[in-house]
Amino acid sequence: MAAAELTVQPAFGPPSRVLISATPEHLMRDAAAAIAIACADAVAERGAFHWALSGGSTPVALFRLMATPEIAPGMEWGAVHAWWGDERDVPSDHAESNYRAANDALLARVPIPAANVHRVRTEDGADRAAAAYEADIRAALGDATAFDLVLLGLGDDGHTASLFPGTVGALPPEALVAAHFVPKVGMRRVTFTPRLINAARRVAFLVSGAGKAEVLRRVLRGPSAPDELPSQLIRPDAGELTWWVDAAAAGRL
Ligand code: 6PG
Repeated sequence: MAAAELTVQPAFGPPSRVLISATPEHLMRDAAAAIAIACADAVAERGAFHWALSGGSTPVALFRLMATPEIAPGMEWGAVHAWWGDERDVPSDHAESNYRAANDALLARVPIPAANVHRVRTEDGADRAAAAYEADIRAALGDATAFDLVLLGLGDDGHTASLFPGTVGALPPEALVAAHFVPKVGMRRVTFTPRLINAARRVAFLVSGAGKAEVLRRVLRGPSAPDELPSQLIRPDAGELTWWVDAAAAGRL
């Protein structure tokens, strides 16, 4: 069943393209298909697909689906480079590690070269890890630092990556990757900044469940309040922004 398309004109900024899938299962299938298309386009044009994965729980079902024999062959894994839009300041084998979640569900199950898995090296400490990650990104992507796809989640408080309410203004304005203490979660996080995310060729939010319906409505249809709703800061400079959502999450749009 094809996703329904909705264009949402917010009270501020450009319209948002929302693709609404009937169920969470359809959402993950639709997202996997879109990622495979983005991958094929990038590999055909530039020989590589640089993909920043999101953390949290929502994408795990997508990662597991992408690792299945039905879906995995649709990606040219030898040309895929996996990065993380944010990471928790924990060891890479920790239960809360975004790297571990994606590696267990997907990357360890597909033929992606180990050198193409760009983990945030939290063992070096969050600040050094953020600086090294930014240097790696600049070296891999060049001056434009344009990811082919940045996959994002949406927190029920309006955060995305590790850009939490009330914290973005304190980030170094020129940084592409930053480390900061996030009081709400009581830990340091390493995160892409809006500047880096907005340089991407494609940005896609993956949002599932009725629990996200109100925050999705506020982000897309509410007044501009980016300090309170950092997801509103995501406006690609020249790339595409798409919201991949299921009907439950879209229930208040
Ligand atoms: C993280 C994520 C974060 C996540 C949202 C949504 O490290 O937690 O990058 O931005 O995408 O919090 O998380 P859920 O999918 O678990 O609701």
